[in-house]
Amino acid sequence: MGIAVLTMKASVIEMFLVLLVTGIHSNKEMTKKIKRPKNTVPQINCDIKAGKIINPEFIVKCPPGCQDPKYHVYGTGVYASYSSVCSAAVHSGVLDNSGGDILVRKVAGQSGYRGSYSNGVQSLSLPRWRESFIVSESKPPKGVTYPSALTYSSSKNPAAKAGETTKAYENPSVPGASAQPVTMMQALAAEAMHTALPKPTPFVAAATSSPRPQPGGHRSQERDLWSTTTYTSNRSSPSAKPGTQRQDFSRAAVQKPAETDVSLGFVPKEELSTQSLEPVSRGDPNCKVDLSFLIDGSSSIGKRRFRIQKQFLTDVAEALDIGPAGPLMGVVQYGDNPATHFNLKTHMNSRDLKTAIEKINQRGGLSNVGRAISFVTKNFFSKASGNRGGAPNVVVVMVDGWPTDKVEETSRLARESGINVFFVTIEGAVENEEQYVMEPNFANKAVCRTNGFYSFSVQSWFGLHKTVQPLVKRVCDTDRLACSKTCLNSADIGFVIDGSSSVGTGNFRTVLQFVANISKEFEISDTDTRIGAVQYTYEQRLEFGFDKYNTKPDVINAIKRVGYWSGGTSTGAAIQYALEQLFKKSKPNKRKLMILITDGRSYDDVRIPAMAAHHKGVITYAIGVAWAAQDELEIIATYPARDHSFFVDEFDNLYKSVPRIIQNICTEFNSQPRN
Ligand SMILES: *[C@@H]1O[C@H](CO)[C@@H](O)[C@H](O)[C@H]1NC(C)=O
Ligand SMILES: *[C@@H]1O[C@H](CO)[C@@H](O)[C@H](O)[C@H]1NC(C)=O
Repeated sequence: MGIAVLTMKASVIEMFLVLLVTGIHSNKEMTKKIKRPKNTVPQINCDIKAGKIINPEFIVKCPPGCQDPKYHVYGTGVYASYSSVCSAAVHSGVLDNSGGDILVRKVAGQSGYRGSYSNGVQSLSLPRWRESFIVSESKPPKGVTYPSALTYSSSKNPAAKAGETTKAYENPSVPGASAQPVTMMQALAAEAMHTALPKPTPFVAAATSSPRPQPGGHRSQERDLWSTTTYTSNRSSPSAKPGTQRQDFSRAAVQKPAETDVSLGFVPKEELSTQSLEPVSRGDPNCKVDLSFLIDGSSSIGKRRFRIQKQFLTDVAEALDIGPAGPLMGVVQYGDNPATHFNLKTHMNSRDLKTAIEKINQRGGLSNVGRAISFVTKNFFSKASGNRGGAPNVVVVMVDGWPTDKVEETSRLARESGINVFFVTIEGAVENEEQYVMEPNFANKAVCRTNGFYSFSVQSWFGLHKTVQPLVKRVCDTDRLACSKTCLNSADIGFVIDGSSSVGTGNFRTVLQFVANISKEFEISDTDTRIGAVQYTYEQRLEFGFDKYNTKPDVINAIKRVGYWSGGTSTGAAIQYALEQLFKKSKPNKRKLMILITDGRSYDDVRIPAMAAHHKGVITYAIGVAWAAQDELEIIATYPARDHSFFVDEFDNLYKSVPRIIQNICTEFNSQPRN
């Protein structure tokens, strides 16, 4: 065995050396032409796939912005060369979204690539690919120079056109032609590549303009050293029907990579792309939600109904079209206690979810829905569980009959943390059963106040299937998912109003109108946006705190009732006062916004109070009128000042800044990761 391996290893190395020499020789002309000054790092775009570049090892400069789901990545650590180079670099943590130089090294194809979520990039699984690459920091070893220009493969190759190559691929190998165990070949090839090859400078790999005849099979032009080594293809199931083949193929590969047959460099790209990329959906992009299904596993439900529930889940998953670019779905089952079966990133397509759902067993026990909702609020939507941040969080709670614990409060907390709660109640309590229900009408109390939209009541388990489409439609109606946090419903806004003598009674009315007009734009309630106000001169006074009024009309009336004080202008002290009297009572899950309106320079120093506000996470907008000092506004305002400070020359022009203030508040909100 040892000798056999050594012999093989030697022959592989030999083959590489031969190829290398011929490769360099035949590319002399080319190498000369593309020679550039030393230290030039070639640049590529985010969408460039590794397979497109022929060089086996190179340093490139990636632009910013490659952390975008539109650039596809396959694998983890080792990536299929079908992946975006730069996006894979972000996934592997070598690069961040601001771009930079990376070192890319091609390695052998794999029999399976595992998708994962890492550094803001979701990579996908792929059964196999003929070539891979790894990415590392661009620290070239001493004495090694990397190419200053890259060699790209031509995308179209007449020699690799469908008919011929496909046929060759479809044919099982000639009996007697022995296929080597792939893993060993890969290991050897990889080793030979990295240890035995001298590092050429600059290295332009075997990119010949006229393809040399290759022993043993067809291959596409887009190849490198790997593809010039002879491997023998052996279909694991030559009898597979064309229709079923693609599914079996990818599934087998994902589940049992070791058993999948790999023909390195053998399969033309076109063949693989249709075989292994098409069947796995990227998901419906019009329904990008992070969804948790909370299913009822209590003893009372019974085996048969539990099966119906699982079928419902499968149907919903299918109708949703699960995928990394669309909705993601996890499942939690509750009984006495809740337990997660799988999170958002465990199964990222409807087909895998179906298989997983089929395997779920009933837990039994009570029907502790409230406990389960608490559990989901605390645990399910973490980043580690695959929460994408940019997608609304949705929980669909399935309840057979009624819960055995309280749900109203826990649901409210779930909603306040930005989760949209849906209830599907099946075979709810009938009249003579209502005495057993702890919270009558629990479903309506548990969901968002905009009623009806979030709760379904289904008469019978056997009619549940009719709810699939309506539920999917509502879950995907992301514009109406009002329970989720938005820029308008998730803030505690404290107005700090200058009531100094210079303002005057008439202008003070205008200021109050301005405060009311801004407030009107928000959704106001005790669980949505709350408003508070402070008026100041030399002194300060709390007009009303965040918890005083919880409807919009009450807030607007309270603003109109604020009486003009008149006096000096101690803006610094007013900011300090607002922090202590208003914002200290802000809820932890609310965004704290301070909107300060002044018409003149402060008598005291605003610097330290302003810094304290910024430090405490209070986003501060400074609105100056007439004699207000621009430099002071900029000190008060949160950075960048140009987005947080406004100046108008007279009170009558205040109204003009309302839309811009709202817009900036929302822009800033939307640029933050949600939930
Ligand atoms: C090729 O595949 C066939 C059919 O699955 C199998 O019987 C045969 O042993 C394989 N040959 C080699 C060399 O692996
Ligand atoms: C407030 O809104 C009303 C009605 O849209 C408008 O007439 C008024 O000019 C606005 N005033 C301020 C100061 O924004």
